[in-house]
Amino acid sequence: MTTMDQVIKCRAAVAWEAGKPLCIEEVDVSPPKAHEIRIKIVASGVCHTDWAYLFGAGKGMQLRPFPLVLGHEGAGIVESVGPGVTKFSPGDKVIPLFLPQCGECECCLSPKTNLCRKDWKNTQQGVLADGTSRISCRGKQVYQFLGIGSFSEYTVILETSLARIRNDSPLDKVCLLGCGVSTGYGAALNAAKVEPGSTCAVFGLGAVGLAAVMGCKDSGAARIIAVDINKDKFEKAKEFGATDFVNPKDHTRPIQEVLVEMTNGGVDFSLECVGDVTVMRAALESCRSAWGTCVIVGWTELEQLTVAPYDLLMGRTLKGTYFGGWKSVEGVSRLVNDYMNGRLKLDEFVSNTLPLNKLNVAFDLMKKGESIKTVIAVTE
Ligand code: APR
Ligand code: ZN
Ligand code: ZN
Repeated sequence: MTTMDQVIKCRAAVAWEAGKPLCIEEVDVSPPKAHEIRIKIVASGVCHTDWAYLFGAGKGMQLRPFPLVLGHEGAGIVESVGPGVTKFSPGDKVIPLFLPQCGECECCLSPKTNLCRKDWKNTQQGVLADGTSRISCRGKQVYQFLGIGSFSEYTVILETSLARIRNDSPLDKVCLLGCGVSTGYGAALNAAKVEPGSTCAVFGLGAVGLAAVMGCKDSGAARIIAVDINKDKFEKAKEFGATDFVNPKDHTRPIQEVLVEMTNGGVDFSLECVGDVTVMRAALESCRSAWGTCVIVGWTELEQLTVAPYDLLMGRTLKGTYFGGWKSVEGVSRLVNDYMNGRLKLDEFVSNTLPLNKLNVAFDLMKKGESIKTVIAVTE
């Protein structure tokens, strides 16, 4: 029986309010409107940012409306398409994108940036282009986090926020390209533009930081210093190519002093993958003068970063990057191909796989630093 044009009833993990665990509910997912695609989510990674919007309110995060279906690192299969959709058909494998690539705006037409702003304000507020979401529960609208909401068996995505990927891709692995891995890997390649033979420091060894380590290694860095306050992360960082390991807890001095000393003046490239303004400053101050580049990858929305202008006057560069600088649709399809051709690691990031009704366990593991990446098997 076809589900096309029908409301689909399915399970989703609903966040009813900030600070409370997610509840598995039966939700209604409306058919796609014009230029929208309804997809069955097969797998979804759990990202630090999902946790942060639920539990991190007041700690640098802007509040989003509730109730909300979190999840923005999903992969799935097209179930049906709305009027006007030409690039997708039922059965296609796809990855939803929280950063669109409309292909037409000023940013999309410029090679200088990936920051397409199409429908940006709406998707940031958890709704699609027309200002509403397609998910509801007991008659109440449920917002779709970042215009996605991948902790639902079905969801509806804007045509400009969806990457079509190879149909032989394993969705429980390539879902990681929807956020963390693409972000960290691209930060090293596209934003830092790490050079062969260089010395790099990566602060924070979650999935984002490990992907940054992988990007430094692939760019030919000679030395990659992995920095984390959780020493259990070092083994994995070594697997991804880190050569030196520094735990700020082992030192009484500011960590930037330790790094500057270790490297005789500072690193060529530093990448902050924590989302903490103190670490951001340490990352900048770990760079050598004259040409050191610090890239901010970690996410914080409301906090302020203080830097000494002298550090910049002495030739250091401070920059940030969003989604690793990838133009989202093209970048994700390319990275899926790289993975399928054995040029990119993904399996190594997955530390846990859990069913949808264990999402709260996934958050606990993340908070305790006991997982790198949990992948949720959303549907069979
Ligand atoms: N110094 C060094 N490492 C730190 C510090 C610190 N002061 N504080 C925390 N860390 C480490 C943690 O121990 C953890 O290993 O940073 C790592 C963060 O990893 P995750 O929580 O798994 O986060 P991840 O998903 O990798 O995302 C990192 O990027 O996209 C953003 O929102 C995301 O801001 C977050 C960041
Ligand atoms: Zn994310
Ligand atoms: Zn655009």
